[in-house]
Amino acid sequence: MHATPLMLDESRRQELWQRLTGAIENYAMKLEVHRVTPELDPAAIRALLARFDFSAPVDPLEAFNFLVEGLWKYQTHTPHPRYYGLFNPAPTTVSIAADALVAAFNPQLAAWSHSPLAIEIEQHVIRALGAQFGYDPERTDGTFASGGMEANHTAVLTALTKAFPEFARGGARALAGQPLLYVSAEAHHSFHKSARLCGLGSDAVREIPVDGELRMQADALAARIREDRRAGDVPFLVAATAGATNSGAIDPIGDLAEIAAREKLWFHVDAAWGGAAALVPELRSLLAGLERADSITFDAHKWLSVPMGAGIYLTRHPQILDRTFRTAAAYMPREAAGLDVVDPCMHSIQWSRRAIGLKVFLSLAVAGWEGYAAAIRHMVARGEQLQKELAAAGWEVVNKTPLPLVCFVDTTTPQGRSAEFLDAIALQVVASGKAWISTTRLTGTTPVLRACITNFRTQAEDVSALVEALNWARTQAP
Ligand SMILES: Cc1ncc(COP(=O)(O)O)c(C=O)c1O
Repeated sequence: MHATPLMLDESRRQELWQRLTGAIENYAMKLEVHRVTPELDPAAIRALLARFDFSAPVDPLEAFNFLVEGLWKYQTHTPHPRYYGLFNPAPTTVSIAADALVAAFNPQLAAWSHSPLAIEIEQHVIRALGAQFGYDPERTDGTFASGGMEANHTAVLTALTKAFPEFARGGARALAGQPLLYVSAEAHHSFHKSARLCGLGSDAVREIPVDGELRMQADALAARIREDRRAGDVPFLVAATAGATNSGAIDPIGDLAEIAAREKLWFHVDAAWGGAAALVPELRSLLAGLERADSITFDAHKWLSVPMGAGIYLTRHPQILDRTFRTAAAYMPREAAGLDVVDPCMHSIQWSRRAIGLKVFLSLAVAGWEGYAAAIRHMVARGEQLQKELAAAGWEVVNKTPLPLVCFVDTTTPQGRSAEFLDAIALQVVASGKAWISTTRLTGTTPVLRACITNFRTQAEDVSALVEALNWARTQAP
């Protein structure tokens, strides 16, 4: 084949692949000594892009270098050991390799016959994870998704389909009464988005108050369901959170499962981050009752440390995905008709789809459950270290969770609990480039600084450096 800009000749390809592996290795080696945060200058970035008007071809190595240099300069480096952020880890080495391989082979996961190995790998991983969560692997079904948002949306859709057989054809307007779903006031806002996407509207989401440990109050849930039924509304889903985004709180899964069973409601657990506790024998009891969930969200791109996006929806109801998503399409391949296999496009939201599960498979194959358990233990220990060092420096930790997510305020100054002061501290730290940290509002009201350790590369000295940066920032805050 003649070389074209779309398929470089062999020697240029070799050069490019070398640059690629060199850039990946360089990032792995040098990231730790680089700033965590970028300069936020949209005009500068747009000026850099102005030369790319695509009227004249650019040399491939030059264009590639532009990307590498740009990413180094203009990115909050979530794989950095001092990124104390939003459940975004450093990817494992082999998951980077798997994702690159997927880009090259480009398996199409809509139809089984197009990608038999990749699809069977994904189902294999789903069953193996289901077993870790207490499901019977023989009855575990599921699908990979772009992330927790899509997995939670899948849960809402399957719960609607189960509760209202007429939903698939008639949609929300065919239902007698307002369908309602129940989450804690600390749940992820993907449920609100999902309610909108389903045509239910975000008023269909009932936020149940939390207790002092930011866990959904089971009594309040039961009372609210009774009240809503009396008003003529139609509850259909209870969604617990295992590892809330704000605080790491884990709802009382067993109690909520009990209420959902009594009320005949679909019970979902959003374990997007915290689900990984199931892989650590001494933490598993935190998720007691998870096996009773009708469905579970788990994000491998969170604590399994693979590149985004790798959401997973699991269910112990083997028929429900089919009932929710099956449609007839004459143009789809038929070679696998008669085989005991599933076409993912009939089983999930996406149609043409990237092979998401291969990076998870390769990582699991190489690390094993024990490798992940050791990594998570290490991060939990770093969380405990952070709590201790903060307390010793006059910060007060205000959330209670065994997971390494710490919410705290400053006790050394009268304004140490105010939003303005805490926001200013986070901004100082971020602007310094020494770490990334954020603020949030617990229960929507109480301002706190929030630091989460989701990175297996974070070491004891990184944690001490964060506390040092915070101590320095509070001397700078207005
Ligand atoms: C508990 C929880 N659920 C769902 C999500 C949404 O996941 P994603 O961002 O992968 O779509 C998040 C994101 O952080 C989360 O923390």
